Amino acid sequence: MVSAGELHLALKSGFPRDRIHFLGNNKSLEDLQAAYAAGATIVIDGDHEFDLLRNVVPDGKRAPVMLRLSPGVKPDTHDHISTGQLDSKFGFSIESGAARKAVETAVNHPRLDLVGLHSHIGSQIFALGAYEQAMDIMLDLLAELRAEIGFEPRKLGAGGGLGIAYTQHDDPPTPRHFVETVRHALESGCARRDLKVPELVVEPGRSIAGPAGMALYTVGSIKDIPGVRRYVAVDGGMGDNIRPKLYGARYEAFLASDPDRSPDGKVTIAGKYCESTDILISDIPMPPLAPGDVIAVPAAGAYCLAMASNYNGMPRPEVLMLRDGQARVMRRRETLDDLVAAEVF
Ligand SMILES: Cc1ncc(COP(=O)(O)O)c(C=O)c1O
Repeated sequence: MVSAGELHLALKSGFPRDRIHFLGNNKSLEDLQAAYAAGATIVIDGDHEFDLLRNVVPDGKRAPVMLRLSPGVKPDTHDHISTGQLDSKFGFSIESGAARKAVETAVNHPRLDLVGLHSHIGSQIFALGAYEQAMDIMLDLLAELRAEIGFEPRKLGAGGGLGIAYTQHDDPPTPRHFVETVRHALESGCARRDLKVPELVVEPGRSIAGPAGMALYTVGSIKDIPGVRRYVAVDGGMGDNIRPKLYGARYEAFLASDPDRSPDGKVTIAGKYCESTDILISDIPMPPLAPGDVIAVPAAGAYCLAMASNYNGMPRPEVLMLRDGQARVMRRRETLDDLVAAEVF
């Protein structure tokens, strides 16, 4: 979780409190108060939080915390979703010495119980070597901390970030491969340094939620520019999926009623928002399409609706949960009144 709002959602949905880790690079006093009250483990991201927490945790109590460290590793993924390098807004850098200093501050803080160290190097990662590199750097720090200040963390967080297939050309590692790689790096790295093996914490997000979701769009207007392009506009776009424009994410689409029908040419699937860049997929082979056809876009379960907006006054879509051929509404379609619910007239 990275906000009191996400925490609220987690608590409302019955998520176990003791498994909540509360992150964020600029937590407010209210965020920290909510996280402490919920019993979450707070993952401190910057020095400011040491001060704020003095006013959050009552006398005589200690909040369980971890420290988010930046191991200085640049995974093979889009720059916009890399987080573990020196030049990042997230975490205490190991390379600069900030991490080492933060550990000392946390260990000596009267209201904190430093249970572990945490890292998250980025997202949509296919090459698992980056996790091994990050683990090695974290364990070097652990060896230094044990030798110099006698600190050994009970938990070590390796973050999330396992990539998923958005198109048929993507071939990500399996979750098992990811976990085995990280666990092996931890256990063999601890053995080499004669360290106690801490509890490993991983936080996969996209690899659980992403493949579980499929976005459905209905085709509306079709515009042919002979010799240039065919635009097929659908009833959604950047308001429900900002990823293509945020970091050049590439998707595939299928005709939902006949996914195996052969393509007859390339089209560009455009959204209905008032921005020229509101393009979901450029130049994708599709069968002949007509208004009313439903297009399915796989791997839409993560970072789509969660990043959705009401830009142009468009209500966000409904979400259906499917199981054994049965559908149930999990989130209703927003109404026009929802759009004005927070306005003060
Ligand atoms: C600290 C942290 N952990 C885990 C995740 C989940 O990443 P992913 O969905 O790529 O697995 C994120 C995503 O932003 C994150 O910031």
